[in-house]
Amino acid sequence: MIEYRNLRIAILGGGSVGAQVVSLLLEHGDELAARAGAGLELVGVAVRDVNARRDVDIPRHLITTDAESLILGADIVVELIGGIEPARSWILLALNSGADVVTANKAVMANHGPELFEAAEQVGAQLYYEAAVGGAIPIIRPLRDSLAGDRVKRILGIVNGTTNYILDRMDVHGDELQDALAEATRLGYAEADPTADIEGFDAAQKAAILASLAFHTAVPLDAVHREGITGVTREQVQAARRAGYVVKLLAICERFTDSTTGIEGVCARVHPALVPLDHPLAAVHGANNAVFVEAEAAGDLMFYGAGAGGVETASAVLGDLVSAARRHVAGGPGVAESNQSNLPVLPMASVMTRYQFTLSVVDEPGVLATIATLFADQGVSVEAVSQSVGSARSGSAPPNLTATLVIVTHQATESALASTVTALAASPVVSHIVSTLRVEGL
Ligand code: NDP
Ligand code: HSE
Repeated sequence: MIEYRNLRIAILGGGSVGAQVVSLLLEHGDELAARAGAGLELVGVAVRDVNARRDVDIPRHLITTDAESLILGADIVVELIGGIEPARSWILLALNSGADVVTANKAVMANHGPELFEAAEQVGAQLYYEAAVGGAIPIIRPLRDSLAGDRVKRILGIVNGTTNYILDRMDVHGDELQDALAEATRLGYAEADPTADIEGFDAAQKAAILASLAFHTAVPLDAVHREGITGVTREQVQAARRAGYVVKLLAICERFTDSTTGIEGVCARVHPALVPLDHPLAAVHGANNAVFVEAEAAGDLMFYGAGAGGVETASAVLGDLVSAARRHVAGGPGVAESNQSNLPVLPMASVMTRYQFTLSVVDEPGVLATIATLFADQGVSVEAVSQSVGSARSGSAPPNLTATLVIVTHQATESALASTVTALAASPVVSHIVSTLRVEGL
């Protein structure tokens, strides 16, 4: 029997993820030790309430409320409490004491990543965060290591399971958004405050983490453009399918050259978008996540799977724990986070995208020409137009007919497309703008 050196593991948090990590670590300890080349001795689990009911039994002698003493006696600290404080302070305490840290915490990574990486580098420790984006899906390590020799051009991610579940229910079952949200909450996908999901805050945190990693550039959370799905209607989702698209909440991270200034930079944005039915992301159903990466040499790659769930996320956490243990065994300093590209973060207005406009217009001669001129005046080129005749308008004479126009543009800057929306809203031939959605993944 091989005698391994023991590494002392402290776990902070015994909730949905923490309890599963404890359970798998106790159950598969020998196997993980053989993979890591070191014994993984669980020295304690810090919680708020020692008497709280847990999904999985945690041996009573391991549970403590004294997180700080636990941290100071550990070789590796696994932070699974979530939120900013005390998570941030405890991660710093662990790193400053020389321990490696594993975290699943997107909030602390998106808001304080550079500070935490700096602390790790100062003492030669390492911070692992595979579970912070995409739950069980390996995406952090592929971006950091496997694609370190390539150049990522763009990432299109479905990184929030709750909103994907909601949009999928609206599409497949014809649910209203609020009914689908209630079901997502009942199934345990949503955050404690589901505003974080449906207004895109959760996805924006994940976008900031992915963009920073992919482009070797610190992308602050407040630079991520964010729109949620609360304005998306069942009618829009169903019209999208008839036109050959699905509506997805996408986190898009891209590297491009601003067409006005010639400056190369990066941008991260979260918003609902139309995705063509033949794009791999269109086939991501339910609460699953997927990250579609376009790299210069590797081409297109897709990472797919469970984006949440206690035991699924525990898989990613334990993978990081084994990596951290291997690093301890090998010795030497941790690998610093790569941010050497330091590219400027470009504004949303510079992004190149396409819009699909659905307009209710007056159905009379010259209207199409007026609208075509309006698009041309904004420098936006139209790719496709379809028209269906609507019902007669109510009200006093003259009883004009209305028609519905669906216009898909070629790529244009977000600023030109936004000005087009303003011009359409002011145009006398447009009764109202039924919907505007960006089209991505063409
Ligand atoms: P839970 O809310 O289920 O568990 C949080 C745990 O942290 C609880 O055990 C709680 O203690 C403990 N805790 C909270 N505050 C303190 C404190 N001040 N001092 C000591 N202990 C504290 O969270 P999850 O397990 O769902 O999430 C953990 C992390 O994993 C988060 O960062 C989350 O974003 C991330 N994550 C979660 C996923 C999921 O599907 N759940 C998916 C991907 C990532 P007590 O039990 O006593 O209340
Ligand atoms: N509420 C999140 C989601 C959990 O729906 O994806 C995982 O971060």
